[in-house]
Amino acid sequence: MDQKPKQMPKGFLWGAATSAYQVEGAAAEDGKKLSQMDVLNQNTGFSDASIASDHYHRYKEDIALMKECGFNAYRFSFSWSRIFPDGVGDVNPKGVAFYDDLIDELLRDGITPVPTIYHYDMPMALVEKYDGWISRQSVEDFASYGEFLILRYGDRIKNWLIINEQSIIVEFWKKKNYIPPKYHDNPQIKFQINHHMNLAQAKVSSLIHKYVKEGRAGSAIGYSPVYGLDSSPKNMLAMLNAEDLKNHFFLDIYFKGEYAPGALNYLKEQQMAPVIHEGDMEIIGEGCLDFLGVNYYASKCVKYPDKEKNHLIEAKSNLTGQKGAMGAYEVMPDFYEYIKNPNADTNDWDWTIDPDGMEYLLRDIYERYRIPMMITENGIGARDMLEADGRIHDDYRIDYWKKHLKAIHRAIELGVEVEGFLPWSFVDVLSTSNGYQKRYGLVYVNRDDEGLKDLNRMKKDSFYWYQKVIESNGALIWNTDPFVR
Ligand code: BG6
Repeated sequence: MDQKPKQMPKGFLWGAATSAYQVEGAAAEDGKKLSQMDVLNQNTGFSDASIASDHYHRYKEDIALMKECGFNAYRFSFSWSRIFPDGVGDVNPKGVAFYDDLIDELLRDGITPVPTIYHYDMPMALVEKYDGWISRQSVEDFASYGEFLILRYGDRIKNWLIINEQSIIVEFWKKKNYIPPKYHDNPQIKFQINHHMNLAQAKVSSLIHKYVKEGRAGSAIGYSPVYGLDSSPKNMLAMLNAEDLKNHFFLDIYFKGEYAPGALNYLKEQQMAPVIHEGDMEIIGEGCLDFLGVNYYASKCVKYPDKEKNHLIEAKSNLTGQKGAMGAYEVMPDFYEYIKNPNADTNDWDWTIDPDGMEYLLRDIYERYRIPMMITENGIGARDMLEADGRIHDDYRIDYWKKHLKAIHRAIELGVEVEGFLPWSFVDVLSTSNGYQKRYGLVYVNRDDEGLKDLNRMKKDSFYWYQKVIESNGALIWNTDPFVR
């Protein structure tokens, strides 16, 4: 029998992730102007992004906690409107200095920075100027912003994630973009936005290859493997349709430089295909990515649409945190209908809990594209409670991560290249749809939607567990002793 402890490969990246607008706060400070996320998060009934977790002022304390936990990597995102308050034109020296200091502080502590260039936060100035990603001008402006970052920080950063969760930006296009009402009834717009992001990403990928020595271009995709409800041929076809439109449609662009034909032709039939200019596919083909960041939370389940629902229905999140209160499941006519998976449990916001899905997607993606991956998000949203003993006993999170890490390890055993685990999130952050009611962090931030309190940091039980996991390079996940965490 093999007695070697089961560990992650040597050099595995261990850390966690956040994004600028969800963690930094200081939304209108030191020269920063508002982004579309700052505006979209106003008056939602939850907290806004003006202070968030106050990382802008507390980043040193936060990095000290990362060090204490044993991180050797940290995923954060640059705020475009902190660097270029108007999206283009004059650079904001204080914004640039903030990221210089953040990166240098991380490096001093032996923590590799893994930045994302764009995490939903288009500068509001560009939305006002030309409707953001809807305009083709966004491609050039994003490339200039990307070029600035690459030239400024490329001496210290090798692995770049360009766009966060493009698939989710398309699925929730009116939530992840500030879309003027005149476009609301035109779903073709979301695929046009997507095309512009494909071009923008390819341009920045080419710039990374041009300017950064040993630099690698990647993106963090929001990825859910899609299961068919059952083995009925129609439902299996619905599963293939959804895989094509939700997954291959993005990854074929990233790694083959082409649109998945099934998905693109379906969109043409539905009058939703993007306008593609001559030369666009060459730009996309030249800017293919080197690695993939995988954001995995939950798998999806589909069936062939029922007759009475066989029309376009857009997805809507669960805003209350009551199981079953999902706003709406997406339907693409004659293609697929999302449904709740009857064979898997969910968290309170109806996100399926499915560790096997992690192994499934890693193997599936690797079979199709043979590219290295790192997990750039994974986690469980929960109503964490600060107990009377001053602790946060988040056993459910430990259980969730333990099972997902085992699935990652199994995929690695079967030959998949997985380079790191950067779960969501490091400290509690402003959720994209549920304020501070839904938390993900290893570290509790003492605030809620009702009040800012003192914003103090408190290590959750998962922090102490993760510290030992990192120290053992993953071996601890196999320990069955309930008292050893
Ligand atoms: C991912 C995003 O979709 O999921 C994060 O990249 C987000 O920004 C995370 O916070 C969890 O989603 P939510 O809506 O629960 O915050």
